[in-house]
Amino acid sequence: MASRRTFLKALAGVGVAVVVPAGVLAGWVYAGAGRSNLGTLSFHNPLRIPPLLDPVAGGDDRKRFELTLQEGQSEFLPGTRTATWGANGPYLGPTVRVSRGERVELAVTNQLPETTTLHWHGMHLPAEMDGGPHQPIEPGQTWRPRWTVDQPATTLWYHPHLHRTTARHVYRGVAGLFLIDDPATDALPLPAEYGVDDVPLVLQDKKLKDDGTLDTSKMDFNGITVTGLLGDKILVNGTYDPYFELTAERTRFRLLNGSNARIFYIGFVDDREFWQIATDSGLLPEPRRLTRLLLSPGERAEIVVDASPGEELVMRSFPPPLGTNFVHARLAGGDDTFDLLKLVAAGSLRPAEPLPERLAQPTELVPAGEPFRLKMGDFLLNNRTMDPARLDHTVTAGAVETWEIVNSQPIPHNFHIHGCSFQVIDVDGEPPADHQLGVKDTVYVQPYTTVRLAVRFLPYSDPVHPYMFHCHILAHEDAGMMGQFVTVAEPDRAAVASHWGEASHHGHG
Ligand code: C2O
Ligand code: CU
Ligand code: CU
Repeated sequence: MASRRTFLKALAGVGVAVVVPAGVLAGWVYAGAGRSNLGTLSFHNPLRIPPLLDPVAGGDDRKRFELTLQEGQSEFLPGTRTATWGANGPYLGPTVRVSRGERVELAVTNQLPETTTLHWHGMHLPAEMDGGPHQPIEPGQTWRPRWTVDQPATTLWYHPHLHRTTARHVYRGVAGLFLIDDPATDALPLPAEYGVDDVPLVLQDKKLKDDGTLDTSKMDFNGITVTGLLGDKILVNGTYDPYFELTAERTRFRLLNGSNARIFYIGFVDDREFWQIATDSGLLPEPRRLTRLLLSPGERAEIVVDASPGEELVMRSFPPPLGTNFVHARLAGGDDTFDLLKLVAAGSLRPAEPLPERLAQPTELVPAGEPFRLKMGDFLLNNRTMDPARLDHTVTAGAVETWEIVNSQPIPHNFHIHGCSFQVIDVDGEPPADHQLGVKDTVYVQPYTTVRLAVRFLPYSDPVHPYMFHCHILAHEDAGMMGQFVTVAEPDRAAVASHWGEASHHGHG
């Protein structure tokens, strides 16, 4: 029953952080300044670009990819060795790239010393292929999910998702990008040369001990840090202290917040404007001009940055407006500033075409039926901890529902739903914030607010295999802020009750 004890200890920790008067904590909290790496970098390591994964030969038209999860050694800080995990390499994994309509098979081999899973975050696919907690891969085993790619062009990612160990496995380095192309997006005049003017940026914070090893001491839920582990070293694509040479006037960056808990607020040191062209689930209807972009763990965004020949610019994460009080801001990284990456423009740059005015057809998801309400509080959802044997909700396959997510705590949460895409309808009745626009699968939920989502579920009917929903701050997810639902067509409804028990399909709220 170690897990139960750990969980209760975690709750006790929360109690301390939440109920101790601000003044008492403040002395401790303000003993040091906010975390920052300003002035500590020299931007001398070339940014690593995750290689594109080549498919392997198969007997048919299905595209087959092989990912091997393995242990390795990385050199993050010069002259030190860090024991890390990765896919097909020591840290992070290759970029998988497929097109809409393709039939794919992934062969995921677990050469790690522990059971894990591999989840395709944001992918539209049947729940049995989703790689959540119900699809464990034992050490030495290979898991072979297959599906047909059927969603608009977008930037997705993969990462482990075993219940209670997701934070540790992701932190050690198992994660990678999964890009989807489609003909409509291919036809747009957007920068599209991978690693040249279409560049992935996996943003992660780490805490390293002096000997270079990963500090995992606050890996599990910890009430004092509130969000779990926050690091003071930044890795971009696993590169510490990175620079990237721009060779085009206009460069597209595919940003992934691959951190456990860190919320980034991305901009440039000179406050220049850039464009956002896409969010989690694909292109925005039109490019959006901005100077800052909030990105919480698990979220993606595609941005386009213009540079002139010879110019140098530094991408920075500014103190994020988390909507917390000052104590929780400090605890959750709200006062922290980090340089992320220096961009160095070559002396002559490939000229850019003007950005298209229209990127994608605007979507408006129109929900029907009763809203599904979830209260995020005490590191539980609707006062319950994740139970893999309990079904929390049943959705009609293909339906659009309203989900109402209430953050009833003074600390940041975000919210991710598998097997769907959603739009934010409103936040406390007001229009969504800039960073909540577009079609998404993960959204920031600031303290004491209610975010209403219009969620379009997938058409797959499966009464047995559930999809997950959870806070994507990984220590919160592991502490039990997760639930599960099935999507079923009408004829399969009876099978839900017979598999999960009578009570299951009434949901709760
Ligand atoms: Cu990125 Cu359920 O996870
Ligand atoms: Cu997911
Ligand atoms: Cu949370």
